[in-house]
Amino acid sequence: MRVGIYPGSFDPVTKGHLDIIRRSAAMVDKLVIGVLNNSKKQPVFSAAERKQMLEMVIADLPNVSVEVFDGLLVDFAKQQDAKIIFRGLRAVTDFEYELQIAQLNRNLNPELDTVFLVTSVEYAYLSSSAVRELASYGGDFSNLVPEQIQTLVEEKYKKKKASN
Ligand code: PNS
Repeated sequence: MRVGIYPGSFDPVTKGHLDIIRRSAAMVDKLVIGVLNNSKKQPVFSAAERKQMLEMVIADLPNVSVEVFDGLLVDFAKQQDAKIIFRGLRAVTDFEYELQIAQLNRNLNPELDTVFLVTSVEYAYLSSSAVRELASYGGDFSNLVPEQIQTLVEEKYKKKKASN
């Protein structure tokens, strides 16, 4: 069985991520989305919330599941029995960082390959940080995230505003 993983912070999942999820899932028997829990980035959404949002948007994809992971990606891949890591490339600016991670991971486990999928043009400008920025200023981000999670994201920022 060919198992792939799609790792990331998903803070929150965007339409661009969903595009990569759908296309990756079509290339493997099983796709495991790995939600990083030990990010130094201080995520807005907890790991449980990020997992929940991902589960909402993959409901129609039977071969996709979501797991939270801590620590090294290579260890998570081994634990999931995965030999392929999927990552999306939006622009050349992503490439240097992605190349470095891919080479590092390959050095740690030569059996592990990283497959880069070129982001669909309509999502090229899209990022979780753009969603967070818009949401924090009350801007319209409805066309950037999957419909199923829009309310959750809005609610989060309303709560954040109320507690400030
Ligand atoms: O969505 P992101 O934040 O760009 O995803 C980055 C991610 C999760 C792929 C990367 O930070 C990662 O793999 N972290 C796990 C720790 C690790 O394995 N580090 C070594 C490679 S940098």
